[in-house]
Amino acid sequence: MLTVTGVNLSFGSLQVLRSIDISVNPGEFVALVGPSGCGKSSLLNIIAGLEQPDSGTIQLDGAPVTKRLGLFAYMPQHDALLPWRSVLDNAILAAEVAGVDRNNARRRARELLPAFGLEGFADAYPDTLSGGMRQRAAFLRTILSDRPILLLDEPFGALDALTRRLMQEWLLGLTASLGRSVLMVTHDLEEALMLADRVALMTARPGRIKWVEDVTLPRPRHPEMALDPAFVEQKARLLDELRSEFAGITTQQPAVIGATR
Ligand SMILES: Nc1ncnc2c1ncn2[C@@H]1O[C@H](COP(=O)(O)OP(=O)(O)OP(=O)(O)O)[C@@H](O)[C@H]1O
Ligand SMILES: [Mg+2]
Repeated sequence: MLTVTGVNLSFGSLQVLRSIDISVNPGEFVALVGPSGCGKSSLLNIIAGLEQPDSGTIQLDGAPVTKRLGLFAYMPQHDALLPWRSVLDNAILAAEVAGVDRNNARRRARELLPAFGLEGFADAYPDTLSGGMRQRAAFLRTILSDRPILLLDEPFGALDALTRRLMQEWLLGLTASLGRSVLMVTHDLEEALMLADRVALMTARPGRIKWVEDVTLPRPRHPEMALDPAFVEQKARLLDELRSEFAGITTQQPAVIGATR
């Protein structure tokens, strides 16, 4: 179990995170939703050990962990595939860094290619793949790092609406079969509600956890559930909560647009 308690973070005079408390239970899928710039990626960086908080603790199964690099399967906001490595060699990167035998790592990656919709592309280079394929290759690498907790930062952020929907369905099936814990950042409330067991809303910067609630939908989930009245009600209510946070970063726009008419 992952527990984040009282995390604060500033960059110089810019306060980014304030008193963040959030937890992810074993096997649980938690979605973190909040306006751009509120500190979501910074929080994942802190959990992954790439950034140190000014104060607060990160605990795993009740014990504080200060050296966290490599403890999580982390998929950063930008897919960061290495252009000079094939799909297969990108996929085994984390395993390779962890010292796993290359041939063993390659064999496992090859076995998983079909499940990730990448069959036949083991030797392809990232710049010959579609956006969705790149995301899945980055996903495969994240999964192959074999850590029990996945940290996913906007895994579908760069995709068009239809591909995004297909990838969400694919992730639903994948997490159900892998049984790992997930903390996923997304801008998209519908995506959060469709995938997660619990949704946490963040305020505009400095980011605080504004609201956490269980998702009412039963599992297994399927796309038609987006029409379920309980789903629609929950989405509308949470959108209202979020709207006030987004307002702070968008109020400039109408005036600017108006001025150019
Ligand atoms: N290394 C850094 N140095 C200085 N400021 C930073 C650094 N990293 C992030 N910031 C600032 O911290 C704030 C939060 O950034 P962060 O990337 O965590 O936001 P986010 O919630 O992930 O936004 P988005 O939804 O747009 O990805 C921003 O104002 C950003 O400019
Ligand atoms: Mg971000």
